[in-house]
Amino acid sequence: MAFTLSIKAASNPVVRAASAKSSAPALIRTGVRSSLKARRNLVVSNVAAPSKEQWHVTVHGPGPYSDRAGLPQLISKEQVEALEAELDQGAAIAALRRFNDNLRNIPADRWEAVLRPVFNELCFNLESFNPAFTSCLLMVQRTIGVSDYVRRDLALKNLIQPLAGEYGMHNGQEQLKTHRELFSDFFTSLFGYDLQQLLADSPPPAAAQLLFSQMSRDIMTGGSLSNDAMEQASYALGYNLAIEYLADYEKTWMLDSFRALDERIFSGLDKKIDWIFLEVHAEGEAEHAAIGHNAVLNLVPTDHMHILRRAMADHDRDFAAFYNRIADMLVEVARA
Ligand SMILES: [Fe+2]
Repeated sequence: MAFTLSIKAASNPVVRAASAKSSAPALIRTGVRSSLKARRNLVVSNVAAPSKEQWHVTVHGPGPYSDRAGLPQLISKEQVEALEAELDQGAAIAALRRFNDNLRNIPADRWEAVLRPVFNELCFNLESFNPAFTSCLLMVQRTIGVSDYVRRDLALKNLIQPLAGEYGMHNGQEQLKTHRELFSDFFTSLFGYDLQQLLADSPPPAAAQLLFSQMSRDIMTGGSLSNDAMEQASYALGYNLAIEYLADYEKTWMLDSFRALDERIFSGLDKKIDWIFLEVHAEGEAEHAAIGHNAVLNLVPTDHMHILRRAMADHDRDFAAFYNRIADMLVEVARA
């Protein structure tokens, strides 16, 4: 079964707020979790000319040949949703709330000094998910000769789309700006100079580098749990799911926080923020999370549920540490 999600105009607002007191997510999970996300037409400035972004992310669930006799039973949608609900109560969500609370409260007269080291970390961190996605995809490809032909292919048909999207490639359209270009545009519109200048003037982004090394180690070794290719692929799919699932909250809240800062600080400084990077991610991560969810449904056997849980917990722990560190940085620099 395949179905297409496209970004369309709609009136329903983003339903999750970073500073909500309740620990329970406001977003009700559905088979395609993104269906309740806010939809807006996104205007993306292409290299040649501005154009409307028409994303066509195609989510592929298990098909008629996925459950042939003799194959291990696949994990169910309900089992995966139960694991995602554990992430809702995890350390990363708490760290993201803390980061966004600190971000919204940075001092107006020191915003640049406070944000520079955080942008140095975010620049590395955001790019580091690309090799992480590639590693997850590779771990599934490496089950050639071990996993089922159809199941493996459907899982990969999902996984390739968010990775290609990082490089501006979406189904049925010309290649747009890469997400690195969009991040650079966002930075320049805020700070008034090139991202290259920040990178040249900054120390190595230690927190982001640590998280990248942890992600690479865990994804490429299946969390050091097993040398079995299928078990390592299940781990990678769980890890990928956790990245995409948490990124949905991360990017939605980051857009909300910067919009609040724009109102309180930046608009008064006559800054015209280029919102495309944040908007594309706030809108697109729900689709990516649906894709990560379905990649799991296509390949992971039900008796690998414990491996999925371990992978998701490993990312939750290390991603939380990263966000707690940059949340600290916001406060430390403001106090210095
Ligand atoms: Fe991206």
